[in-house]
Amino acid sequence: MSEILISPSILAADFAKLGEEVRAIDTAGADMIHIDVMDGHFVPNITIGPDVVKALRPHSDKPFDVHLMISPVDAYLEAFANAGADLITAHPEAGPHFHRTVQAIHKLGKKAGAALNPSTPANALDYVLEELDLVLIMSVNPGFGGQSFIDNQLRKIEDIRNRIDALGTKTILEVDGGVTPDNCSKVINAGANALVAGSAVFKKGPANYANAISALRG
Ligand code: DX5
Ligand code: ZN
Repeated sequence: MSEILISPSILAADFAKLGEEVRAIDTAGADMIHIDVMDGHFVPNITIGPDVVKALRPHSDKPFDVHLMISPVDAYLEAFANAGADLITAHPEAGPHFHRTVQAIHKLGKKAGAALNPSTPANALDYVLEELDLVLIMSVNPGFGGQSFIDNQLRKIEDIRNRIDALGTKTILEVDGGVTPDNCSKVINAGANALVAGSAVFKKGPANYANAISALRG
C-alpha cells in the first residue's frame, strides 16, 4: 500500500473560525479537507451547506472531500460542485438511485464516492464499484463526531480492499469515524489508504495539528 491520505473532518473544528481552522490543517499537512454535510433527516444532526463550502474554498488548495449525509441528494450535487467540492461522496442508503447519483457527480466533472453505513454490506456496491473514485467505510453511525470505532468494520474494509484490487482500479478506500493514533494501524493494515479524523486532530488544539496528522499515518 502506498501513501496514506489524511482528511481531517472540520466537524470537530471551531465553527466560529472555520476559515482559520481549514488554513491551519492545510499548513499542518492535511492531504484533503473532509466536510461533513448533514440534513437532520438522513442523519439526526444538521451541519453546513454549500454556501459555507464556498466561503471556505479560498482558504485551501487541498481537495475538498465532501461527505453528503443528506436525502434526497441529487438536487444538491450541482451546488456543492459549484461551491468547490473536488470529491463528492453520497450514501447509497439515502435513496433508490445511487448509480444515477454517481453519474450526475461525474457529469459535473467531480470525483464520486460511496459511503456505507456500518450495517450496510460491502456487496451493496457490487454493480457500481468500478465507477467509483472513492469508497468511504463509516466506522461509526453517521451523524456525530467523537464516537467509538466499530471494530467489525475492519472486515468490511478488507472485503472492499479485495474487491478494488480484483478490479485493478485506483479507487481510494477511506475510513471515517472514531479513527485515532491507537487504531489507525489496524485500519491501514485492513486496506484503507485514506483516513478521516475529526476529534483526533482538532481536539488536540492548533499547535498540535501537525503532530496529530502525522500520528495517523500508521
Ligand atoms: C460522522 C462524520 C465523521 C466524523 C468523524 O458522521 O462523517 O466525519 O466527523 O469524527 P471523529 O473522528 O471524531 O469520529
Ligand atoms: Zn464524514
